[in-house]
Amino acid sequence: MNLYPLLRPLLFSLDPETAHHVTLDLLKLAKQTGLSALSKPTVREKPVNVMGLTFKNPLGLAAGLDKNGDYIDALAELGFGFLEIGTVTPRPQPGNLKPRLFRLPEHQAIINRMGFNNLGVDHLLAQVGKCQYRGVLGINIGKNADTPLENATEDYLIGLRKSYAAASYITINISSPNTKNLRQLQQGDEIKQLLSALKEEQLQLQTAHGKYTPIAVKIAPDLSDEEISHIAALLLEFAIDGVIATNTTIARDKIQGHVHANETGGLSGAPVKDSSTRVVKGLAAELSGKLPIIAAGGISNGQDAQEKMAAGASLVQIYSGLIYKGPQLIQDILDSL
Ligand SMILES: Cc1cc2nc3c(=O)[nH]c(=O)nc-3n(C[C@H](O)[C@H](O)[C@H](O)COP(=O)(O)O)c2cc1C
Repeated sequence: MNLYPLLRPLLFSLDPETAHHVTLDLLKLAKQTGLSALSKPTVREKPVNVMGLTFKNPLGLAAGLDKNGDYIDALAELGFGFLEIGTVTPRPQPGNLKPRLFRLPEHQAIINRMGFNNLGVDHLLAQVGKCQYRGVLGINIGKNADTPLENATEDYLIGLRKSYAAASYITINISSPNTKNLRQLQQGDEIKQLLSALKEEQLQLQTAHGKYTPIAVKIAPDLSDEEISHIAALLLEFAIDGVIATNTTIARDKIQGHVHANETGGLSGAPVKDSSTRVVKGLAAELSGKLPIIAAGGISNGQDAQEKMAAGASLVQIYSGLIYKGPQLIQDILDSL
């Protein structure tokens, strides 16, 4: 039973951040009362092997929807092949002032400048410890806003160490536009130094835990062709396990004239689709299949997902499409893949 078309007008009448919490609480309630079992999607198993992990299907939930891991079991009911929680930082932080989340329904888009509001990595890990979900779980890590950029590596190392045992894979988020200068970590020597430190730590953790947890790096859609090649070469050099393309964009060309066009933040949904696909294609050309690409950005139907796969992705993730289309989108995408 697809209730989302009935619920959506109500949810969209609330301010976006309230609607976000109400929706997730409703999903949790549906799971706890057994209601979600009645409307469980008839998703066929389409297992894929990526980064040494078995995904029950290639469609995942993108990071940022469940930043604290508070809704893992409820989200697992929707039929995803994997869930990515976070971004989480070493210490809890409130994020930016509200309002910081804007809907642009005319463009099937969202602008957010949440700024990694989260309860900290320890809270997230406690939630993971309590959940029943046993599928692929990515933990997306970032740096605290008040950690100077030159100490960013230390924040990522804390996140890596703490989440290593619990995560199926760990995402290094260096592409959010909402933490000052974070995206500089995608460039020049900064990325080299970061990847080198992460790889070294990952190998030590592998020995300590007797388990290999793959690392994926999440990049922005606003990178130039040269920056994409630079990153791709370093991902290979440091034997990083995967790359997620992409995060939200700071570009506004596709939404010119919209009342929210000048809001600071990352734009997601339909307007980021083509620039994300461009990055996936650029990466695919440079990586020649040596490293898997996880595509995110503007996927709002099965054809969009197919396009990402044709561009070179092995897995896809959604966020904004889910807000506009509801859980039916998951079934639609899986039917098309
Ligand atoms: C409200 C909101 C919050 C987000 N928070 C995060 C985050 O914490 N970490 C992250 O890596 N990506 C975050 N993202 C980016 C998404 O994971 C995704 O990469 C991006 O939105 C593009 O996919 P989409 O067009 O399907 O939304 C966020 C996106 C939105 C809309």
